[in-house]
Amino acid sequence: MGEKPWDGRFSEPTDKAVEAFTSSMAVDRHLYHYDIDGSIAHCRTLARAGVIAETEAEELAAGLEKVRQEISRGEVVFSDRLEDIHMHVEDRLAAHVGALARKLHTARSRNDQIALDARLYLKAETRGIIAQLRAFRQALVDLAEANMGVAMPGYTHLQRAQPVLFSHHAMAYYEMFTRDTSRFCDALERMDVMPLGSAALAGTTYRLDREYTARLLGFSKVSENSMDAVSDRDFMLEFMSAASICMTHLSRLSEELVLWSSAEFDFVDLPDAFCTGSSIMPQKKNPDIPELVRGKTGRVFGGLVNLLTLMKSLPLTYNRDMQEDKIPLMDAVDTLKACLDIYIRMTPNIRVKSGVTGRAAGRGFQNATDLADYLVSKGMAFREAHACVGKAVAWAMDCGKELHELSLSELQQFSGKIGEDVYDALSVEQMIDRRRVFGGTARENVAAAVKKAKQRLEAE
Ligand code: ARG
Repeated sequence: MGEKPWDGRFSEPTDKAVEAFTSSMAVDRHLYHYDIDGSIAHCRTLARAGVIAETEAEELAAGLEKVRQEISRGEVVFSDRLEDIHMHVEDRLAAHVGALARKLHTARSRNDQIALDARLYLKAETRGIIAQLRAFRQALVDLAEANMGVAMPGYTHLQRAQPVLFSHHAMAYYEMFTRDTSRFCDALERMDVMPLGSAALAGTTYRLDREYTARLLGFSKVSENSMDAVSDRDFMLEFMSAASICMTHLSRLSEELVLWSSAEFDFVDLPDAFCTGSSIMPQKKNPDIPELVRGKTGRVFGGLVNLLTLMKSLPLTYNRDMQEDKIPLMDAVDTLKACLDIYIRMTPNIRVKSGVTGRAAGRGFQNATDLADYLVSKGMAFREAHACVGKAVAWAMDCGKELHELSLSELQQFSGKIGEDVYDALSVEQMIDRRRVFGGTARENVAAAVKKAKQRLEAE
């Protein structure tokens, strides 16, 4: 062997600038655990196929564990000369087991090796993110439960529309993050495919028991086509898509918290420990966490577009372009994890200003639909009732009053069907509690939704 495991046909050493340019150690350093797990499973598979002796497999596995120890203790200096994590591990293995290390790469290529490492890495990270999402969804449910009965305006077009329970609003986010969870679970299923045995692209001449390798590594399936296995990055694209949608949800929540913590809304108080001040304006308390999460959303979207563009039009099978996949992938993983972590910590400390939200729920003609519904209950057709209430709203606006602030005789100018019971129908409590249709904001529905979510979270 020369300086490099592939340089037999080369007549001059690699240019140093080329070594630096082609090295993937900046990202590969996060893959060493998975690379070593894969190599241990591979040497056992080689022994099972009779390619190496059982004793050799055990010696290689023991040597690989030593390499794992030294890398985890930070004792291995990574060098661009060795290009990637696969070569570093083999190099260190040779230091422990000598010439035997040269047998490890039989029936394997770095192409199926990196496909394996990336799948092992992403399976572990996706499981972690699913667990984080569970904790965050629990925090949202707890927030909904702690504020049960608090009214607030519900919005469309960012205009006050109809009163809702704050808890109903919080549970809308629970639904979004529950769908995210199911998207990650779904992506996990297609990630769970073992590529080793595909070798460079065409498979290998050795009769490897690939199902055995899959069992050793905790995969439920083996890849069906060696060419697809070394060139498929769909599992990353699916993860990045799910991560982008999840970041969209986080950005929407963030935007609401930024709005709600402003003086203009004044609906929530964010904990001091999760805000920062201004170096010049002493009065400031800024919602940095939601702002930064909102901003980080762009990184994850960018990563998705990066990876889609990287894979677009690539001919089969492996192309070195694909080495660039791990940069956006790992950045998206780390960004999403950090955003979920900070939200898990902050959410239990969000204080809802129920007096402010309740007063806001009672203003801005949010009971106009309910007045129309009231007239429908007295026998008027909805379209007619809509027109009649429209006139009442215009009149009340001119007097500078809300609908429920008009006297009975003032209201009766618009319809003789209006009676004393109208005021009940126009109250915030009634407006909320009468929306008892499944999925509506009535207190009993929202309490049931919270209960169902708690049971589901417990079972997950
Ligand atoms: N560092 C490479 C990657 O991330 C590993 C596979 C290299 N394969 C090769 N034939 N050079 O894609």
